[in-house]
Amino acid sequence: MALITKAPRGTQDFVPAESAKMRYIEGVLMKIAEKYGFGEIRTPSFEHTELFVRSVGDTTDVVQKEMYTFEDKKGRSITLKPEGTAGAVRAAMEHGLLAEALPLKLSYITPCFRYEKAQAGRYREFHQFGVELLGAQSSAADAEVIGLVNQCLTTLGVESIRLFINSIGCPNCRPGYQKALREYYQAHYDDLCPTCKDRLERNPLRLLDCKEEKCHALAEHAPVILDYLCEECQQHFDTLKARLDSMGIPYEVDPYIVRGLDYYTKTVFEFKTETIGAQGTVCGGGRYDGLVEMLGGQKQPAVGFGMGLERLALVMEACGALLPEQPRCDICLVPLGEKASVYCSALIQRLREEGFAAESDLMGRSLKAQLKYANKIAARYTMVIGDAELEAGSARLKDMDSGAEAEVAFARLAAELTSREADRLCQGIAQTGPDVAGLLKE
Ligand code: HAM
Repeated sequence: MALITKAPRGTQDFVPAESAKMRYIEGVLMKIAEKYGFGEIRTPSFEHTELFVRSVGDTTDVVQKEMYTFEDKKGRSITLKPEGTAGAVRAAMEHGLLAEALPLKLSYITPCFRYEKAQAGRYREFHQFGVELLGAQSSAADAEVIGLVNQCLTTLGVESIRLFINSIGCPNCRPGYQKALREYYQAHYDDLCPTCKDRLERNPLRLLDCKEEKCHALAEHAPVILDYLCEECQQHFDTLKARLDSMGIPYEVDPYIVRGLDYYTKTVFEFKTETIGAQGTVCGGGRYDGLVEMLGGQKQPAVGFGMGLERLALVMEACGALLPEQPRCDICLVPLGEKASVYCSALIQRLREEGFAAESDLMGRSLKAQLKYANKIAARYTMVIGDAELEAGSARLKDMDSGAEAEVAFARLAAELTSREADRLCQGIAQTGPDVAGLLKE
């Protein structure tokens, strides 16, 4: 029978060493979000298709080309979530969270699914860390979520990443801009891709983020939204810039950022890097003051972002950011003979209950083969236990890094390892630098 050894295109496996990195990254991100007052929300991996059509928008690439949509057995249209915002907002409304203390601050880590051309940094299943802050109108909220991203990147040691901001206006000023865009693109109608020809009347903003080469080139000379902002949007943008200045967060204004999703109003932003190839947008977000209303609720201002975890890991690797080593085995017990093996089953269980990562032989291997295995799994300590050691109630504990050995009674083994672990941890924290150390200490 033919082997099935290939995952579907655009998906990735995370083998243990990779998972350990992701878990570390996720832990740091969620810890920082918690400090900013965000509580985790978990929503289903699939939703009613209508949720994304209404929120992300039916003229976006995501809805028109990229969604994994299918009918369930009862004929309902279901879609694997292409992004985190719509589900989080739907859940907030469903559970009445918006009737509680505002602002409502939600964070999440979620798998997302988009049928895109797979390439480095672009996957069909990927993971987003995101936050949604609902109920606050002020640009202080925009500054807070941008500040959160900034702190996440700094804490994780990410360098060479730049923040770009823009305002895409509101329902008051956007029609004027849309009119100017339509006029501009009408003059180049024949050069547009079929999708853009189709979208020109209904949603000309979408033409600005079309990935087709010809449309992309045209976008570079299109009118810019910043020339069309109403007073309120202009003021919101100006105060955001003042806040970022006062927080010491560097940014550049890029009037061509429109984002690929329809729900945005006013502020939009992206954190981009050139260190990981074409898919350099690590984080994107913005304000979406109309979304709750679009989903049938009462108007509620909101702002948030989504950060691609795979891209974040790529940029961390590219800039040599510190990643924790894979957790090491604390001790490998090496039994010689059946009696010692039976004793080790009990000893290892006690050690594990004390919280140690302990291993022992499960393969009936020789002394030499067991020590080779202990080396392979990088065990910190080994202890060879035979009949003589059983009789004595103690054995030699060997430090595999230094080679030093000491006689330790089995009854004192956990206490001995605990005191050695405490010394090691203190040294480790001192080496990891102030930010990570602060997070780990808790
Ligand atoms: P988005 O820009 O579509 O925004 O996605 C956010 C991030 O997800 C991107 O910056 C990128 O890092 C990552 N990403 C997107 N597509 C892929 C892919 N195919 N492969 C790998 N990574 C990808 C949103 O999804 C909004 N929900 C963000 C938001 C939250 N805005 C307000 N609140």
